Amino acid sequence: MSRRKRALITGITGQDGSYLAEFLLDQGYEVVGMVRRTSTVNFDRIQHIQDKLTLVAGDLMDEVSLMAILKEHRPQEVYNLAAQSFVKTSWTQPVFTGEVTALGVTRVLDAIRMVDPEIRFYQASSSEMFGKVQQVPQTERTPYYPRSPYGVAKVYGHWITVNYRESYDLFACSGILFNHESPRRGLEFVTHKVTYHVAKIKLGLADRLPLGNLEAQRDWGYAPDYVRAMWLMLQEDHPDDYVVATGETHSVRRLCEVAFGSVGLNWEDYVYVNPDDLRPAEVDLLVGDASKARRELGWAPTVTFEQMIQMMVEADLEALRSQRQPMRL
Ligand code: NAP
Ligand code: GDD
Repeated sequence: MSRRKRALITGITGQDGSYLAEFLLDQGYEVVGMVRRTSTVNFDRIQHIQDKLTLVAGDLMDEVSLMAILKEHRPQEVYNLAAQSFVKTSWTQPVFTGEVTALGVTRVLDAIRMVDPEIRFYQASSSEMFGKVQQVPQTERTPYYPRSPYGVAKVYGHWITVNYRESYDLFACSGILFNHESPRRGLEFVTHKVTYHVAKIKLGLADRLPLGNLEAQRDWGYAPDYVRAMWLMLQEDHPDDYVVATGETHSVRRLCEVAFGSVGLNWEDYVYVNPDDLRPAEVDLLVGDASKARRELGWAPTVTFEQMIQMMVEADLEALRSQRQPMRL
């Protein structure tokens, strides 16, 4: 039997899954990644480490597949990162979002309870749960007021994690992560939408950028910093919940200023408000207080907002110049 620790990541093909897989491999883990069966392979974000991973087919909609994976691969840690994660889509696919993002968590927890209750579990909870914020800044004790079907589903996922911890004594942690970005961020999210358009405009490949609410404020951090926090939670003596955030907030307008400014352009010459990019209900302001994670996990962010946006613009310029798809590597 191998003595290396083994971790299972659901959502390994996503932004966070790819960074977490790299991080765990660096820590000496064997990494098992659950992937959905798709008609076209979408391993772009993990292509560079694919030969070091064990990829297995499964789906959060299908508990049988989850149990089979746990039985066969016997991980000591499970990171549940899979979700329908785009807030806007959750209004057009609310039931599907609930099935995957909410009930999917119960399916994983139940599979753990039945196959191996010693497994340590991480749930990808979200600052979107704070929604119409009841306190500024938001902490682990701030009440939730979700403003989207996605936010509602994440509140369910959070509480079922707490409930299984309390009901069955599982080592189940919930990381309440604020927005985190990177060059691997999906193109539909606002940071990458902006940096990709900045790169296209700079190279003469586009001339306008449609956006929704320019006044929304987010606490944007750097994804590789955030996956480290996930791992730290599972190394503690006791399971708990932690806010992970930078403590700084910026508006979408400021994001545009920084991104366009980084290549010497004035954002107001290109950006216009497109009503289709507005949401039925908005989360106006998120800013997290991560003192508990700093104190108990020794966690701190290492990359500033401005550095991260600059990095994303440069990666998009590079990708466009070499005619690669921008969002992946
Ligand atoms: P992402 O890039 O959208 O990745 C989502 C992953 O979930 C993908 O690998 C996707 O697989 C997988 N997935 C979707 N539905 C599935 C299903 N039914 N069964 C199995 N896998 C499924 O998201 P991310 O930004 O990495 O975020 C990771 C997690 O953290 C998500 O749960 C998200 O809600 C949460 N979160 C993210 C942030 C953030 O700012 N990034 C903040 C707080 C919480 P495919 O590749 O096949 O689509
Ligand atoms: N996507 C997008 N596109 N957002 C826009 C646009 C646009 O054209 N224009 C303005 N925005 C605003 C949105 O209305 C929102 O207030 C803000 O920009 C951020 O939107 P997203 O980047 O789509 O992220 P999000 O905050 O809704 O959700 C992300 O963060 C959550 C954590 O708080 C996702 O990663 C979620 O999965 C995550 O849980």
